[in-house]
Amino acid sequence: MSVIRAVPIGVGHYLPARVVENAEFEKWLDTDDAWIQARTGIQRRHFAADGELTSDLAYEAALDAIKDAGIEAADIDAIVLATSTPDQTFPSTATKLQAKLGMTSGFAFDLQAVCAGFAYALTTANALIVAGQAKRILVVGAETFSRIMDWKDRTTCVLFGDGAGALILEAQEGDGTTKDRGILSCDLQSDGTYNDILYVDGGVSSTQTAGVLKMQGREVFKHAVTKLASSGETALKKAGLTADDVTWVVPHQANLRIIKNTAQKMGVSMDKVVVTVQDHGNTSAASIPLAMSVANKAGTFKRNDLLLTEAIGGGLAWGSIVMRW
Ligand code: UT7
Repeated sequence: MSVIRAVPIGVGHYLPARVVENAEFEKWLDTDDAWIQARTGIQRRHFAADGELTSDLAYEAALDAIKDAGIEAADIDAIVLATSTPDQTFPSTATKLQAKLGMTSGFAFDLQAVCAGFAYALTTANALIVAGQAKRILVVGAETFSRIMDWKDRTTCVLFGDGAGALILEAQEGDGTTKDRGILSCDLQSDGTYNDILYVDGGVSSTQTAGVLKMQGREVFKHAVTKLASSGETALKKAGLTADDVTWVVPHQANLRIIKNTAQKMGVSMDKVVVTVQDHGNTSAASIPLAMSVANKAGTFKRNDLLLTEAIGGGLAWGSIVMRW
């Protein structure tokens, strides 16, 4: 049976020029490189320059993905951009990106699910393509989390970084089998009763300030492994596949211990897991497309490889996508 699939045709990323090694935090915080590496796997992260906006990062990542796809910006008819650190309260960072790309047609909007943002954006873009609302969608995760750090809080500020990644999905016909290229299944979940274990203490309607990130790391950690593994398994089941069918897991890059424990729980060996957290830190919604693009440029993915992505973040919100490359 012929079906419409959302097939990846290009991927790209951008990291701001400034690289901050763990040792830099030792200058003003009671922390050290050994603790950060042992507890998180993070060695360095990138921070945006003064005046460098989320839309600037998104623009560079989008150009990279457009080049990889061999298309023009005008060939794209929608942008779905996941971010929790938009340039402004409104207009959306997606429409700012649209303008930077010189696009005057199509539609663009932001979506916010914190670190699960890219899983939510992929699911939304997939639904738009399958429903015939768009033929080519630029799906972006872009963040400047350095803008919402409390630099005196060693339990959070060493964890996050800035960056952007972009994936272009195109409507293509498939046979309706698990051999089709493109997105094969999605699983999204959230539970707002956990709002208070990971949040930003400001906002437009509450404080009229941007606020800074607050996290009960240990609590989030406990939920992460169980929820990610169960969501990954649900998505695979929906697609009619199992963990044995997976060629590559591309997880949200928050903490190497979470990545390893989740892989172990799912029965996937670490040599099938893409890991970039050591170089990027946690870039929230940008982490999955960043990892995908880095792996793609390294020649890691082959056409028809089966990819599983999974992410969790503030909300709590989490989800997984199964796609054939
Ligand atoms: O992407 C969104 C989702 N977020 C996450 O997935 C993050 C989930 N959580 C984590 O990754 C981990 O919980 C952290 C990396 C945040 C913390 O690691 P942990 O192994 O859970 O450490 P902990 O919070 O239990 O803290 C252990 C100790 C504490 O000291 P005491 O109370 O035992 O004396 C902390 O104060 O480590 C201390 N500590 C630090 N020490 C040196 C916390 N941060 C630091 C630091 N440097 N930067």
